[in-house]
Amino acid sequence: MKQTPPGLLVSPIRDGTVIDHITAGEALNVLRILGITGTTEECLSIATNVASKHMGKKDIVKIEKRELVKEEVNRIALIAPRATINIIRNYLVTEKKGVEISGILRGVVRCPNPGCISNTSEPIESSFEVTAAGLHCLYCDTVITKDITSHII
Ligand code: CTP
Repeated sequence: MKQTPPGLLVSPIRDGTVIDHITAGEALNVLRILGITGTTEECLSIATNVASKHMGKKDIVKIEKRELVKEEVNRIALIAPRATINIIRNYLVTEKKGVEISGILRGVVRCPNPGCISNTSEPIESSFEVTAAGLHCLYCDTVITKDITSHII
C-alpha cells in the first residue's frame, strides 16, 4: 500500500488551485466566499489547524480543476490576508501569488445600512474603499470596522 510521507496531510493535486497559509480556522469561510458548498461539484481537500513554521497554525484548501481568478482572490484577502494562491498545472506550481485587497471592492460586501442605495431595488452594485479604518461605503459613508465575513455577499 502507498504510504503518505510524514508531514504530508493531503495528496498533491494534478491541476487546480492550492490556497495555502489561510488564517487557522478560516478554511470553511474561504469556501463560503468562493460559493463552494456541499452541493457543488468541485473535488476538494481541506486541512485545518496544521502546523506552520511562520504562522504557528494554518489552514489549506485544494480545489481540483479550477483556477481562481483575481476577483475571487480579492475576496479571500478579507479573511485570510496572508494566504498564498498556487496555480497547479500537471503537478507543478506554475504560479504563486499573495492575496491583496484592492482599493475598491465592488459587489463583494453588502452595506449594513438598510437605507443605502446599494440595498434598494436599484441595479447598483455595492462599492467599498479599503481604508485603514475599515471598509468605507462609497454611497452612504458607512464604515465596516469588524466582522467583515458576516457582510460578504
Ligand atoms: N501542492 C499541491 N499539489 C501539487 C504541488 C503543490 O497540492 N502538485 C501544494 C503544496 O502541498 C503546498 C502548495 O501547493 O501546500 C505550494 O507548493 P510549493 O510551492 O511546492 O510549497 P512551498 O515551497 O512550501 O510553498 P511556500 O513557499 O508558499 O510556503
